[in-house]
Amino acid sequence: MVTPEQNESISHIANYLAMNDAKQYTFQIMRSYGFQYDPDSSESENLIIFIQHYCSDPGKEDFIDAMTVLIGNYDLTEVELERVDYNLQNLGYMLEEGMVVEIPKEDDFYEFLEQCLRDPEALKAEGGAYDGALLTLTEGLMENDEDFTLIDYGCGEGRLLFALSHIPKVIKKHITYVGVDVDEEHLEALSAKIKESGFESEFKSCTVMNLQDFFEAGLDADYIFMVNVLHEIPLNELPKLIKDLESMVKKDGVMLIHEMRELIEGEMRFVSWDEEDIDEQFKNTSFNVNVRSYNSRSGIPLLNVHLNREGTTSTALEEIEGNLDNMIKNKLKRIEEELKEIEDSGDELRIRRYGYLLMLKRNIELQYAQFVREKLSDSKKEE
Ligand SMILES: C[S@@+](CC[C@H](N)C(=O)[O-])C[C@H]1O[C@@H](n2cnc3c(N)ncnc32)[C@H](O)[C@@H]1O
Repeated sequence: MVTPEQNESISHIANYLAMNDAKQYTFQIMRSYGFQYDPDSSESENLIIFIQHYCSDPGKEDFIDAMTVLIGNYDLTEVELERVDYNLQNLGYMLEEGMVVEIPKEDDFYEFLEQCLRDPEALKAEGGAYDGALLTLTEGLMENDEDFTLIDYGCGEGRLLFALSHIPKVIKKHITYVGVDVDEEHLEALSAKIKESGFESEFKSCTVMNLQDFFEAGLDADYIFMVNVLHEIPLNELPKLIKDLESMVKKDGVMLIHEMRELIEGEMRFVSWDEEDIDEQFKNTSFNVNVRSYNSRSGIPLLNVHLNREGTTSTALEEIEGNLDNMIKNKLKRIEEELKEIEDSGDELRIRRYGYLLMLKRNIELQYAQFVREKLSDSKKEE
């Protein structure tokens, strides 16, 4: 009996095989099993019937062997081969040295096939055995065949670097990685980890910098990643930071922001962002903004922002500050509307959200007051 989950996997495998070069091998296997094609069905429908039939057949081990051969024959590129190996190792079917220890049987086989043959887009989106959210972020890197500089702004103890260490070696050797953080302890811990792990030899280079060295270094970045950092930047410091980072991103380079749309523990002082805030904040800058909101598999609300730098013109600080001002005003308005709506509804199930919004409102107001104070004192100095 095929479960709905298995059926979904089978459809995925069949569609993938039907769309790729692997089709020829698969049809060879189908023929050798005497499978009768239904001329009125599409290739992938035929494949689904075939896989379902053989996976629920008592003699399925032959089929499993044949499919294993198919995977071995499939003409994978170097990058894809590394991905397959990585998946196999994570599923426990291959040792790190590349030796296959076990051929998966029965139910696991569906997962095995799916993991091996998953198309790159699906793999990146779902993350496989990697950190899904970070893998999605690194997807743009997979096409690089030239050297590039990647800045991990607010690197912490290097979660992004460790995610990057799993991407194919052929890409890693092009990466100049620079981890930057305000917290010196994080930087020390990350430096020690880089030494221990041997990343220095895997990447083109791998360094960490404090804020002062970083802003003095005048780097040209192809990518700036900010992973779970934006909510920690006080709003009054943000315009200058955006301006400085914008000037470091090369033409056609990308700044990537990844955040939780709602901070699970509320987190004192911090301000979470949503799509509208991002659109407002980066309006009329040199970035072309592409924002995506989605929930992780475990239901965490996430925000993924690609800022593609289209030109080299730099945005005036006043413009970025003006955007921030509008962003905050509109955000506060939306928060107040939602608070009122929850009050009017009397819905006790929304009490947690209500508390979250109250704290968010307070955090924004405190930071906004600081921003306004600084602006006033700047304008007094100018007079
Ligand atoms: C939640 S942690 C995320 C760390 C890492 N990016 C990750 O995803 O695991 C936020 C990091 O941002 C750093 N940070 C906060 N404010 C910063 C600033 N103004 N400039 C640079 N880093 C900052 C913190 O020290 C911390 O390491």
